[in-house]
Amino acid sequence: MKNKRVAYLVMDDMGDYVTDFHLSVAPMAELGWEVVGVPWRSDPDWGRFDAVYICTPWDYPKFAEEFLSVLQTIEASRALLLNELETVRWNLDKSYMKDVEARGDDIVPSRWYDDFSAADVSAFFGEHDVDKVVIKPTIGANAMDTFVLTNPVPDALLDRLTQTFSGRSFIVQPFIEGIQEEGEYSLFFFNGQYSHAILKTPKTGDFRVQEEHGATITPVSPPDGLQAVAARVFSHLEPLPVYGRGDWVRGPDGRFLLMELELIEPSLYLRTDSGAALRFARAFDQRFEELAGK
Ligand SMILES: Nc1ncnc2c1ncn2[C@@H]1O[C@H](COP(=O)(O)OP(=O)(O)O)[C@@H](O)[C@H]1O
Ligand SMILES: [Mg+2]
Repeated sequence: MKNKRVAYLVMDDMGDYVTDFHLSVAPMAELGWEVVGVPWRSDPDWGRFDAVYICTPWDYPKFAEEFLSVLQTIEASRALLLNELETVRWNLDKSYMKDVEARGDDIVPSRWYDDFSAADVSAFFGEHDVDKVVIKPTIGANAMDTFVLTNPVPDALLDRLTQTFSGRSFIVQPFIEGIQEEGEYSLFFFNGQYSHAILKTPKTGDFRVQEEHGATITPVSPPDGLQAVAARVFSHLEPLPVYGRGDWVRGPDGRFLLMELELIEPSLYLRTDSGAALRFARAFDQRFEELAGK
């Protein structure tokens, strides 16, 4: 079998982050791949690699321009960047959810704004016909700058929202109660094929489902209907991502609503399913073989 080299883009220091990408190293090796961990800022000769996997460069949101320029350099080299730059660009800003909705897939009902004015806040509730909403930036991660608002919003909070959202695009959604009762489902797809799923439940009194905020992660079989909903969302993505995660919550009428798609550097939770690492490796290798000689 031909020897191939892949750079896994990581951070200089992964600090306290929990990672499990090492689980894919052996299955990749079986398919002929030498895996090299490369800090995304280290500026190597990318042409030494056949492919680059955007693995765990999780500090990129603070350095988005720099990160994109590194990805551009990789794209311009002989190495194949996966997921593709086009997918990364589309997925950086949550406005991509508008495209998902336009294709007929259900998303958490969303209203989009380009700038913030405290005077507009009382209308947020009426627009969604609820008394509890979530406001969050269109570019963000880890629930940063995500606020739950109840009507009426106190002046001190209005000041804070003004500081956070002035001159910035943001989204307003109804607060989906299901997130506290049931949690948020993440389904993982490799080359459009379903692989595995987890349920993330917030700690009591919280609504955020990130491990960093004390949430619990459980491997699950998706509840009835969700896998088909998720497969449909992924089948509409062009180019098809090699790896991706979608997050869904159950809405008040029982339908599953997309919360977000993570197609850049999602943690794949390979440790939660014994076949996941092999499925990832096969998908990666298969795509490489299809696109090699681009
Ligand atoms: N409309 C909503 N209803 C309830 N909880 C929400 C809502 N929007 C966001 N959240 C909570 O905030 C978290 C972060 O929001 P999300 O849209 O996933 O952005 P990101 O993960 O990129 O910060 C979600 O995982 C969820 O716990
Ligand atoms: Mg999220």
